[in-house]
Amino acid sequence: MAPLKGLILSGGKGTRLRPITHTSAKQLVPVANRPVLFYGIEAMADAGIEEIGIIIAPETGPEIQEVAGDGSRFGVKITYITQDQPAGLAHAVLTAEPFLGESSFVMYLGDNLLQGGIRELVTAFQANDPDALILLTPVDDPENFGVAELGEDGGVVRLAEKPKEPKTNLALVGVYMFTAGIHDAARAIEPSPRGELEITDAIQHLVDTGKRVEPHVVRGWWKDTGRLADMLEANRLILDVIETRVDGELTESQVDGRVIVEAGATLLRATVRGPAVIGAGTHLEDCYVGPYSAIGENCVVQDAEVEHSILLAGAEVRGLDGRMESSLLGRDVKITRSKRQPRAYRFMVGDTSEIEIL
Ligand code: DAU
Repeated sequence: MAPLKGLILSGGKGTRLRPITHTSAKQLVPVANRPVLFYGIEAMADAGIEEIGIIIAPETGPEIQEVAGDGSRFGVKITYITQDQPAGLAHAVLTAEPFLGESSFVMYLGDNLLQGGIRELVTAFQANDPDALILLTPVDDPENFGVAELGEDGGVVRLAEKPKEPKTNLALVGVYMFTAGIHDAARAIEPSPRGELEITDAIQHLVDTGKRVEPHVVRGWWKDTGRLADMLEANRLILDVIETRVDGELTESQVDGRVIVEAGATLLRATVRGPAVIGAGTHLEDCYVGPYSAIGENCVVQDAEVEHSILLAGAEVRGLDGRMESSLLGRDVKITRSKRQPRAYRFMVGDTSEIEIL
């Protein structure tokens, strides 16, 4: 059998993570200080996939190429494929057809995270030889996902993309396995009401034409990191399994629990309670960093308490009275308090930012 290829979808608009995604691709937003996209690439490499195509958008593609490179650091070969517009997941597959050729492939949505990787699924796909294999998981809000209806024999009967009234709570996870037959299915369908060529409809076309679509219910956790709450949750899940490593410099400081302090980070009278990760070049002073925090590179936290938050590179938090929690700060964001009177809030905040004062 020809080797399986990988296809990672890293185009799209990322509207739900604005303003972070005004300036950066949503697949590069870090989870435990590493771009979410890296987890997908690693899952593929771990499953023995050597050739990966990454779909990119014209606007955010160059940044993704710069960060992920040619794939050699992951032990894979990456080919970048530009999709001229975000016209849907099935459109992305068609855009990648010249790269994929007649190969079967794993498709992984670049903003998804799946615990436990994809090795077992690849083995099942190769052993059972279906036309497609889809992953499902029960969720509380199926109306936000593709939703599957299974028949009495456990086979796929119907798939619906973000239905207003979902028939089941089984969401389609953003990892799929296909044979080359998916290209004809993608050509056979029409754009959905939201104007996209939906992969859900292409898979439904496979079902309707008698092809074998095998469903698997995933056992571990899965996260689509498209929204802030999901991003924080993904961060929490990954931080829960990091291994303690303290390479930075600690002065009168304390770290408890699972904590990574990267080389070049400096802590002065700081307490870090894990799980947490502190990036290279970051300075913590007279502060507390609490569980489920990922502080990126070259950040500053001083005279402040931060918990359950993600700080992107260069962010600074100084002099806060209360604790900052459940927050996502973009690159080089600065939050400070000055002692000047009269006391007031003063903001310079980008488009679509959200600030909540509790
Ligand atoms: O996360 C799972 C869900 O992903 C599934 O349950 C849905 O059935 C599936 O349609 C998809 O829904 P989303 O609305 O979450 O997809 P999103 O627009 O966020 O795109 C997923 C990834 O694919 C993201 O990394 C951006 C990329 N993408 C998206 C589109 C529309 C592209 O590369 N090209 C595109 O044209």
